[in-house]
Amino acid sequence: MISFNTRLTIDRLGWRGEGVAQGPDGLIFIPYALAHETIIAEVDGARGTLVEVVAPSPDRIAPFCRYFSRCGGCAVQTLSAESYARWKRDLVAKALQRAGLTIAVSQLIDAHGAGRRRATFHARYPQQGQVKTGFTQARTHDIVEIDSCPVLASSMDRALPAARALAQALAGQSKPLDILVTATASGLDIDLKGHGPMSDTATQRLIKIAGDYDLARLSNHGSILISRRTPVLAMGRVMVAPPPGAFLQATEAGEETLAARVCAHAAGAKLIADLFSGVGTFALRMAAFAKVDAYDLDEAALQAMAKAAHVEGMHQVTAARRDLFARPLRPEEMERYDAIVFDPPRAGAAEQATALAASLVPVIVAVSCNAESFARDAAILCAGGYEILMVEPVDQFRHTPHVEIVASFRRRGEKPRRKRRLLG
Ligand SMILES: C[S@@+](CC[C@H](N)C(=O)[O-])C[C@H]1O[C@@H](n2cnc3c(N)ncnc32)[C@H](O)[C@@H]1O
Repeated sequence: MISFNTRLTIDRLGWRGEGVAQGPDGLIFIPYALAHETIIAEVDGARGTLVEVVAPSPDRIAPFCRYFSRCGGCAVQTLSAESYARWKRDLVAKALQRAGLTIAVSQLIDAHGAGRRRATFHARYPQQGQVKTGFTQARTHDIVEIDSCPVLASSMDRALPAARALAQALAGQSKPLDILVTATASGLDIDLKGHGPMSDTATQRLIKIAGDYDLARLSNHGSILISRRTPVLAMGRVMVAPPPGAFLQATEAGEETLAARVCAHAAGAKLIADLFSGVGTFALRMAAFAKVDAYDLDEAALQAMAKAAHVEGMHQVTAARRDLFARPLRPEEMERYDAIVFDPPRAGAAEQATALAASLVPVIVAVSCNAESFARDAAILCAGGYEILMVEPVDQFRHTPHVEIVASFRRRGEKPRRKRRLLG
């Protein structure tokens, strides 16, 4: 395909945060261009590279990060706060419309807070002895070497130097390395991926770096190399010690916002099932007012939750390992619950939503990190007789197209006869 420079008018900001223009042969996607701008772009098929903004949008502001447009971490930094909030809310509203659902979406709730408390850095070894550490460029595996990232929380200040030192210590390998860093209350927790089994010599080098950077814990593919302090995070009234690499919300404010919304929607329930519970982000907080049965595939995460749950004054939290894609909770298993919370991975949970749609559970709270799969699952629930009461978009991945969603559903019509109540 031959690339050429052309003048374009941007129609809208798309779901990946790219400007979308109509070209002679179809849509063209141009990163870093904003809606209603006139630009010059170098066009190659359906992709364009922004060369010059000829007539900027009145909403255009200066980016705050010097790596913006080179680093692939942020897609949208040059849009005014108001337009940005509208664009992100519309991502959810449009996904619901496409799924055939009519519901007003609430204003975007900002949950950036102090910034990201976790990040995955990447290291590549282009030549013998050479190491590049940073984030990847958008849509490539090339590394942008950065000195700092203003999106990270200050608790992550030592994350990048530590990641760089660890990557350097493994120079000599050729495979790409991913370095997941999480800031916990007891220090940085780092899990390495991509290296494979570690020799004793390499392990000793890494342990030395863990000491130099005062890491709480260092692991390789979830296997602990050294634990200098147990990494812990406060969740409601309890402290949880997440296993290496476990799922956690990206910002503390994001976790607190999502959990507060979930608890508000489930308030009044006495027995709740928390599906895709992870380490108990919601279960451990809901246990302040209800008994909770938590289900997840990750045994280590469930164990961390169960261990944290034994606190005076809290209701019982039970943990069950279950593959909810292969074996969703069946409608008759769910009958005893007053409320069900479900927070699946990006793919959503079509099978579980189908079982929920056939259930008599009075209240369902859905949490999602993907507007499309959320809309599909919401449509399944609505087709089964549920009504959506509220859809709230939550922004913990500021400057990216990612948006979290919390939604509450109530069974339409008469209050269903409940087996548990009849038996009780
Ligand atoms: C988006 S996370 C949510 C975790 C938790 N609710 C939180 O907010 O921290 C999705 C969770 O789904 C779990 N998961 C992934 N596939 C699963 C499956 N097939 N069955 C059950 N749980 C699964 C993961 O282990 C992860 O804990």
